[in-house]
Amino acid sequence: MLILLGPPGAGKGTQAQRLMAQHGLIQLSTGDMLRAAVKDGSDVGRRAKAIMEAGQLVPDEIVTSLIADRLDKEAHAPGFIFDGYPRTQAQAESLDELLAERGLALDQVIELTVDEQALVERISGRFTCARCNEGYHDRFKLPKAAGVCDICGSTEFKRRPDDNAETVRARLAEYRAKTAPILPYYEAKGLVARVDGMAEIAAVSQAIEAILARDAVAG
Ligand code: AP5
Repeated sequence: MLILLGPPGAGKGTQAQRLMAQHGLIQLSTGDMLRAAVKDGSDVGRRAKAIMEAGQLVPDEIVTSLIADRLDKEAHAPGFIFDGYPRTQAQAESLDELLAERGLALDQVIELTVDEQALVERISGRFTCARCNEGYHDRFKLPKAAGVCDICGSTEFKRRPDDNAETVRARLAEYRAKTAPILPYYEAKGLVARVDGMAEIAAVSQAIEAILARDAVAG
């Protein structure tokens, strides 16, 4: 049971995908859940759309209820990677309650540390496959064959509406004001490990794997 914590563009989604492939864990990304709700035009999606486009945080009760639903739907999963959740002190406390009610507990919080200057470039270069959602980047991770998804062969790609410089600045400000301050909560529980998120994608994965292996040995 793992939380990936870090500002927008730190690589949480990228690393969560690799951990899923490696360990069969289930990625729970509140950003992905909210984008799906917006696409479906559900009540939650209608409430979240403008907030997300402004780069602000969606109310705690909405995201906590999305996470609770998914924990129940995936009750037999071998473990979860929380990606982009929790993002406030209230969400961190709610997550503890949700896990305790289900007899689960967090093993690790991994903070991806990054240089904020680099994040705007990372985020503005990002795109994903419109069919299977595999992530790419104009500079750091292009498809092997130009214009064709490595995973599913689709030739359709998409970019997020909140991936522009102005909204990224708002998202970074929200992270500094509301999310970074939850780190001491987890530090007090001895759960936090830090990984250099500016290293290459594979090197970041290796560093995360080393932490997971160390903890497995420590029991
Ligand atoms: P969300 O979808 O969670 O976005 P985010 O936190 O802003 O994070 P990103 O998805 O932008 O970045 P990431 O860290 O996953 O980076 P990635 O791996 O893609 O949230 C969106 C919005 O939804 C929020 O603003 C808010 O409104 C709302 N929301 C969501 N959860 C919420 C919550 N809990 N509470 C309230 N509101 C919530 O990488 C970025 C790019 O860089 C990619 O192109 C990738 O290929 C590349 N890259 C990754 N790692 C590296 C590397 N090491 N070197 C070079 N390039 C790299």
